[in-house]
Amino acid sequence: MKTLVITGASKGIGFATATQFCDAGYRVINFSRSTPPDDRIESYAVDLSDPEIESRITALLDEHLEPEEICLVHNSATMLNDTVRNADAEEFVEVLRVNVVTPQILNRFLIKKMKTGSSIIYLGSTLSEKAVTNAFSYVTSKHAVVGMMRATCQDLSGTGIHTSCICPGFTDTEMLRTHVGDDEDVLKSIASLSTFGRLIDPDEIAMTIYYAAQNPVINGAVIHANLGQIES
Ligand SMILES: NC(=O)c1ccc[n+]([C@@H]2O[C@H](COP(=O)([O-])OP(=O)(O)OC[C@H]3O[C@@H](n4cnc5c(N)ncnc54)[C@H](OP(=O)(O)O)[C@@H]3O)[C@@H](O)[C@H]2O)c1
Repeated sequence: MKTLVITGASKGIGFATATQFCDAGYRVINFSRSTPPDDRIESYAVDLSDPEIESRITALLDEHLEPEEICLVHNSATMLNDTVRNADAEEFVEVLRVNVVTPQILNRFLIKKMKTGSSIIYLGSTLSEKAVTNAFSYVTSKHAVVGMMRATCQDLSGTGIHTSCICPGFTDTEMLRTHVGDDEDVLKSIASLSTFGRLIDPDEIAMTIYYAAQNPVINGAVIHANLGQIES
């Protein structure tokens, strides 16, 4: 049996990914605050910004997971509307906890249980390699995620574990809708920024994650999955 351990599979890209792996016969274990609408997903309600999270998730995983082929997908993320002028230290730390620190807690614990063929897939963003205004803490954390992935590749040389960072473009999920205030006109103008003139479906990112997990040749790679963005 192969297992997917994923964060943030209650909705959006994470949910699409979890269902894709379930369909492929994986056991799927999820950590998020709310429950995914699919009984096949074993879900544990946790807030990944909680500073005390380590003992809770490692105890759960220790109890429920044997050493095996594991795909670990770091999908949960927090996005704030903030700038270098106003980003508050406590909120900044909270974003870094969810987007960067908790993924490393999972890495450190799960690598011990990963057999050859396992993988660690990070979710970056177009904003892993460029910045826009009003997303200061998110941009910072998504740049860090690329560094984590590259260091993961180097540190795990010879283990048979591969890693990559999938960087979605504008994908039709709650995160994107919340960031633009659920404004349909803004969503239309964002869609027009892709060379295909539409938003990405979460299933398209899920397929990309699945492909990266199945193919060890994709190791240390940053994969942009954005339909081609029109640069101004
Ligand atoms: N949508 C886009 O356009 C886009 C573009 C580039 C990159 N991405 C990346 O793709 C990934 C998925 O994003 P999405 O668009 O699918 O977002 P989403 O629909 O808002 O889902 C985010 C997931 O993260 C979980 N999460 C957030 N904060 C959490 C916390 N404190 N503790 C536990 N779980 C938490 C949420 O679960 P609960 O609310 O149930 O806790 C939810 O399942 C993220 O890494 C994001 O940065 C998205």
